Amino acid sequence: MPPKLEFLARITERRAALRAELAALLPPKQPVTWEIGSGHGHFLVQYAQAFPEKLCVGVDIIRDRLNRSDKKRDRARLRNCHFVQAEAREFLDSLPAGVALREIWVLFPDPWPKKRHHKNRILQAEFLEALAGRAGEGTPLYFRTDHAEYFSAVAALIPALRTWRLDPSAPWPLEQETVFQARAPAYQSLVAVRTSHPARSAETAAPEPPPPTDPR
Ligand SMILES: C[S@@+](CC[C@H](N)C(=O)[O-])C[C@H]1O[C@@H](n2cnc3c(N)ncnc32)[C@H](O)[C@@H]1O
Repeated sequence: MPPKLEFLARITERRAALRAELAALLPPKQPVTWEIGSGHGHFLVQYAQAFPEKLCVGVDIIRDRLNRSDKKRDRARLRNCHFVQAEAREFLDSLPAGVALREIWVLFPDPWPKKRHHKNRILQAEFLEALAGRAGEGTPLYFRTDHAEYFSAVAALIPALRTWRLDPSAPWPLEQETVFQARAPAYQSLVAVRTSHPARSAETAAPEPPPPTDPR
């Protein structure tokens, strides 16, 4: 088989395996708390423990981090927490029909600091619109980063979309330090909410980003 066809066949096979894995893991009508880039699992294991009624799924591309996450989950004996090896967009595209996102967490995503690499960032307009397609009205998206420019870019992007609005008064449901949070001298957080009726008045324009939080 020519290399290009072989490559495409591998992708098709991987996506079919992911679809089958998710179909077996996720009950059709139960909404999912999704953490994108769950790393070593520190946040999601604590979160699933704090909210046993929520079905939590963490996704990462690095196998070793998922193995560590699985160990934490098993030590805590949690049945509502799963870790899946997948690229975020492929995961979203492979969600079984009828499975909605209850909430979305994106904690310290890779910032891709060079301008020419910004296209690799996970939080971009096209991805946010795709997320909106699986999120009911009111679904929150929690975003935290130590990269000031990435934070400002997302805070400016959200009010420009028809599908999300910033909610500066939304609470942060659980504080749990992650590996990358522990390394960060400071960070910023925002909550966006899925909306089908975005207001475009001055009050809902992008707020000034809050000052970085110094965790010490
Ligand atoms: C900077 S680390 C942050 C990990 C964790 N959230 C934390 O705060 O410690 C970013 C994580 O996202 C994962 N990642 C990067 N791109 C991804 C993608 N497209 N889909 C899923 N995971 C991704 C990386 O493997 C890495 O574990």
